[in-house]
Amino acid sequence: MKTICVIASPRKEGNCKQITDMIIDKIDHNHENTTELHFIDDMNIKPCQGCMGCRNPENPQPCIIDDDFRKIMDQFTNEEADLLIFAAPNYFGEINAQGHIFMDRFYSMTQKTSNYLKNNPKCVVVFTYGASDGYYDEYINSRSHLFESIGFDVRGIISAGRGKPTSGDDEDLISKIDEVVNKI
Ligand SMILES: Cc1cc2nc3c(=O)[nH]c(=O)nc-3n(C[C@H](O)[C@H](O)[C@H](O)COP(=O)(O)O)c2cc1C
Repeated sequence: MKTICVIASPRKEGNCKQITDMIIDKIDHNHENTTELHFIDDMNIKPCQGCMGCRNPENPQPCIIDDDFRKIMDQFTNEEADLLIFAAPNYFGEINAQGHIFMDRFYSMTQKTSNYLKNNPKCVVVFTYGASDGYYDEYINSRSHLFESIGFDVRGIISAGRGKPTSGDDEDLISKIDEVVNKI
């Protein structure tokens, strides 16, 4: 199984990265796995330009911006990759800016375009924040529908509050990760 991890936090050893590592460690026990790990901050990913080229019904196109977003997503289109782990931190109540730039590009891959992921690859969404556990569940559940809107099969959402796991308060987190990994 090939897993691609996309981390929206710029913090190289932050909560998003640590939770992603915990998931990958557990997957490695269950599957023969190769992993690619990317920080959006280090990649060449431009914001959606709203050109509507992907929505032209007479001549549907892939996104005109041929950058690292396409390099990641082409691997799901070509069935080279099987699982996306997307991990983002909460900045002022929402996914941070890097995560938004990545997700806005999903517009070029919805069912109204030619780029919808027909093979339904798997996906896990991770959201970390400082507020109490569950505080942002409604928000992250709703954002996670966007992954489904481009054809991903969302197998689990890990909503981790209280600055976990850096805060050390990670007992519930470990059982949540086990639960999600069993669904992959
Ligand atoms: C600019 C900024 C804004 C933040 N806003 C919130 C917030 O509104 N609510 C919250 O619960 N946590 C907030 N946080 C805390 C982060 O979401 C939290 O520390 C998260 O786990 C960071 O993930 P990381 O270590 O992977 O970067 C904020 C952090 C930063 C840097």
